Amino acid sequence: MLLGPAKFLPSGADELEMSSNSVFFNGQFVDPAEALVPVVDRGFLFGDGVYEVIPFYQGVPVGMAKHLDRLEYSLAEIALPNPYERSQWLSYIWQLVTRNGGGDLSVYIQVTRGAVAKRDHAFPPAETPATVVMLASPLHSLPAAVRQHGAAAITVPDLRWARCDIKSINLLPNIMARQQAVAAGAMEAIFLRDGQAIEGAASNLFVVRDGVILTPPKSTRILAGITRDLLLMLARERGEVVEETAIFETDLREADEIWLTSSTREIMPVTRLDEQPVCKGHIGPVWRRLDRAYQEYKQTLISTGGES
Ligand code: PDD
Repeated sequence: MLLGPAKFLPSGADELEMSSNSVFFNGQFVDPAEALVPVVDRGFLFGDGVYEVIPFYQGVPVGMAKHLDRLEYSLAEIALPNPYERSQWLSYIWQLVTRNGGGDLSVYIQVTRGAVAKRDHAFPPAETPATVVMLASPLHSLPAAVRQHGAAAITVPDLRWARCDIKSINLLPNIMARQQAVAAGAMEAIFLRDGQAIEGAASNLFVVRDGVILTPPKSTRILAGITRDLLLMLARERGEVVEETAIFETDLREADEIWLTSSTREIMPVTRLDEQPVCKGHIGPVWRRLDRAYQEYKQTLISTGGES
């Protein structure tokens, strides 16, 4: 696997834009073309690893500690020893951000169970070092057209495993779902399982019905999104009525508003679902209030230099 120049990527792989000037590779900062992972790496062979994505605005992170907490959780749940102390993670991440010029960046972190001599599903010897890669890519905020008119989404069956709380690098069902969305001219796919709407292929789900904001509770069926938590906090602080409860397919189809949240897309309003208009095809008033709150929160972080 080459973590390198765009010329090695298939055309149209714009989300994979590897524009890092410098990438972190097992304790060192190197040119992307020099970050070569052996073919026997378990991440490559089995998808045996976990990842994180941390957003930075003007060089200031949003939710850094929570992202690192979730990384620790994912590692523990797959019994992969955390290769670094928290202080080391922080030091490496800050060095990566500085080397890549600060600004608006998303930092991608991936940890795999390392490279082995023999392909065997069972864990390798305990002393096998993990492979750690970090990339910094430009973070493009939600396109102006989406902020003005909203995005289209489709629904797809949730074919994922039973531990979606782990941020695993095994993303095939998410990839297939997202590609279905792309083929349908939509920006995201929403997973349906057992008559409930679960989350997006790479985002958490919120709907508004009769003035109440609904989002599925944390469970092994969803990723505990950092943006989700932040949005819940901001909504409650502002006196919005919020319920963490199952969203049935009828709630989704009859929703007054639908939003999808993630570290890279913030709060994305959905105004078309399976080719039907949501909120008469317009952005809703609750999204406007919460998006303003989210943008203000970000600005405050930026002006105060952010979290530690
Ligand atoms: N994905 N649910 C899934 C399945 C996700 O992959 C993501 C994020 C989220 C939102 O989590 P957060 O708010 O912490 O970003 C929910 C990242 C951005 C990705 O895969 O690129």
